[in-house]
Amino acid sequence: MSLSPDSAAPADARAAPPAVRVGVVSPMLAPAVRMLQVAPEQLPFVGDTAYNLEQTRLDPHSEAMAVLVGERVVGFYRLDFSVDAIAGRALGEPSVGLRAYAIDRREQGRGYGTAAMRACVEDLRLRHPQRRLLALTVNVRNLAAIAAYRKAGFADTGELYHGGSAGPQHLMLLRLAPPSPSPTATAP
Ligand SMILES: CC(C)(COP(=O)(O)OP(=O)(O)OC[C@H]1O[C@@H](n2cnc3c(N)ncnc32)[C@H](O)[C@@H]1OP(=O)(O)O)[C@@H](O)C(=O)NCCC(=O)NCCS
Repeated sequence: MSLSPDSAAPADARAAPPAVRVGVVSPMLAPAVRMLQVAPEQLPFVGDTAYNLEQTRLDPHSEAMAVLVGERVVGFYRLDFSVDAIAGRALGEPSVGLRAYAIDRREQGRGYGTAAMRACVEDLRLRHPQRRLLALTVNVRNLAAIAAYRKAGFADTGELYHGGSAGPQHLMLLRLAPPSPSPTATAP
């Protein structure tokens, strides 16, 4: 049996790719977040990230989050904890909205968008365990984002939201914690 040079290399010679992680935007990270850019044709889906960061900071119910690969800032999103975030109404369970999600145009297509959503879910389960649903809307034409959200565990509710300026959007949900038992449910 012959071994290829690659498979014969010691394990530590093949460096694992740096993990994708997420964290609150600190004053130190903010300048790199402001530099993030999407392609011009993607702007209608998300807007300008520097503007989105400022809007997030002005809102006491929102948290500005950075996506990092190693020490490099590659993306941004906003967590919106207001009751009617995303759908314009409460969802029946404690929820959090995901908004303004963007991976820098030079960093897209490398799996970071999907990995960051998985890290976002882990982060919410740790830091905000009382929130049971993660909600977002995504433009029906935004196939890359829909693919990333599905792979990270979001499901399409089938509900279309018409509040956006760029056309109809799917309402997608991801369950962060089991539903609270119904107050009317009785033991057999
Ligand atoms: C959406 C976004 C965050 C995804 O980030 P990303 O790092 O490129 O995502 P990934 O590399 O994890 O790719 C996700 C999936 O989308 C797929 N994809 C990429 N472009 C696609 C396209 N045009 N059509 C269909 N699928 C596409 C990829 O193939 C990948 O699936 P795969 O791993 O099975 O191949 C990024 O494209 C972005 O910032 N877009 C602009 C802003 C935006 O639209 N934000 C979402 C607002 S709701």
